[in-house]
Amino acid sequence: MFEINGHTKQLAIIGDPVEHSFSPQMHNYISERMGNNYVYTALEVKPEHLGDAVRGFRAMNFAGMNITAPHKFEVMQYMDEISEQARQFGSVNTCVNRGGRLYGYNTDAHGFYKSLLREGIAVKGKDILIVGAGGATQPVAVLFALEGAKSITIMNRTLVNAQRLAAYVQKTVGYTVSVQPALPRYDLMINTTSVGMSPNVEGCPLADFSFVDENTAAADMIYNPEETVFLRRAREHGAWKTVNGLGMLIYQGMIAYELFTGTTLPDGMYDDIAREVFGK
Ligand code: ATR
Repeated sequence: MFEINGHTKQLAIIGDPVEHSFSPQMHNYISERMGNNYVYTALEVKPEHLGDAVRGFRAMNFAGMNITAPHKFEVMQYMDEISEQARQFGSVNTCVNRGGRLYGYNTDAHGFYKSLLREGIAVKGKDILIVGAGGATQPVAVLFALEGAKSITIMNRTLVNAQRLAAYVQKTVGYTVSVQPALPRYDLMINTTSVGMSPNVEGCPLADFSFVDENTAAADMIYNPEETVFLRRAREHGAWKTVNGLGMLIYQGMIAYELFTGTTLPDGMYDDIAREVFGK
């Protein structure tokens, strides 16, 4: 561990719960590698204390914070400025303190998008099936619309939630999302729900995998287990590529770190984090 001294700048993730977050290990690893005098901790903040927490963050001159569930929407009201995309996503997961002004960003959707590109999976011009319509889905649906997906279908256990999300995307970026699968196949299928996450690893949010063929890729936002039932079934149905959520986790953190520090991380940092922090 690098030395913490009077010059050390503070970073933190706030959420409830927050103790299972990998962000402290990731950010502290990056700081150590880069020789940056920052320390990053995890702080549990209850919803009723969110306003006080952000005021304290500013008062104590923290350099930056990540925001995780359940605060990504509510925290927006406390920002001085919000990036155009975070506003479109309706979600802020990164806040940078610049001279006492708080700037809100969202790095989740871009992190996910970069993890797909890294695996050779395109979004532009593709037919995409998204399973789930929760807080994690909205930024990705909006970004895929902006990135030129040919079609986006949102399939969700509760139809009205899919309809609400479709209406949001329509209103925000003028893109029409379907809420019933109407195509015989999809180029990309994504699980954005927590179904299948450890310890309930037998769960799968999709019953019908007939949409998969050898030109389909499947991605899951879950990284534990490494291969969810969703990914396994897609693979067994012939998907050419399956991708878990580890890449999203790493890239959203790297983008946030660059925003916190105003630096550009070297290309090899992704592999170093995967190996040194996650043992992959
Ligand atoms: P959030 O991401 O906003 O915190 P969540 O309650 O974790 O929300 O749910 C995320 C998504 O997982 C939702 O699409 C949810 O479906 P509903 O809209 O029907 O609640 C989905 N989800 C959660 N549990 C599920 C299950 N057992 N089967 C299918 N979908 C499920």
